Amino acid sequence: MPFILPELPYDTSAFGDLISAETFDYHHGKHHKAYVDKTNALVAEDGALADASLVDVIAAAKAQGNKALFNNAAQIWNHSFYWKCLTPEQQSPTGTLKSMIEKSFGSHEDMLAKLKEEAVGHFASGWAWLIIDGDNLKITSLHDADTPVAHDMKPLLTIDVWEHAYYIDYRNARPDYVDALLKQAINWEFVAQNLDGSGVSRADQ
Ligand code: FE2
Repeated sequence: MPFILPELPYDTSAFGDLISAETFDYHHGKHHKAYVDKTNALVAEDGALADASLVDVIAAAKAQGNKALFNNAAQIWNHSFYWKCLTPEQQSPTGTLKSMIEKSFGSHEDMLAKLKEEAVGHFASGWAWLIIDGDNLKITSLHDADTPVAHDMKPLLTIDVWEHAYYIDYRNARPDYVDALLKQAINWEFVAQNLDGSGVSRADQ
């Protein structure tokens, strides 16, 4: 079965100027769609992967050294995860997630500052990630299309720092884009669901 571009979980105009409809039209409607289309075309060339899940395609592409397939398939996974990390509602971490953030970073504000530092400091294209490692939360980043799925990492939250994520609304001001998302657009309910793995089901992948 070919992979399908997932619907966004909100209207493209829901974020106003924070993330414009034009950004969603390009980022989701063109960039993400292109990753889906290219992955499907590359998978069609290899009959062995016809019924493989996205996670299995990523693993096979990595094992085979097939960079084109790896990059496109990993970008499907990363973007599908990223859309779910965003919400037009104003939310804050609660419960177990809040406690873990305070244990690992001191405070919610300290965690946001560290995540912003990682996202802004990441050289060129890539993704900043909040992950769970044992009982602790950690912040890291991966280059280009690389994905936690290929590293056995458990992601809770990501910020896309490719220029296509912010250039329409923020031009080259990556710090402003990261700041705006972290303070006003993070779906902390989804982040909490990822603590126990319920946020991303196998069917999503
Ligand atoms: Fe992106």
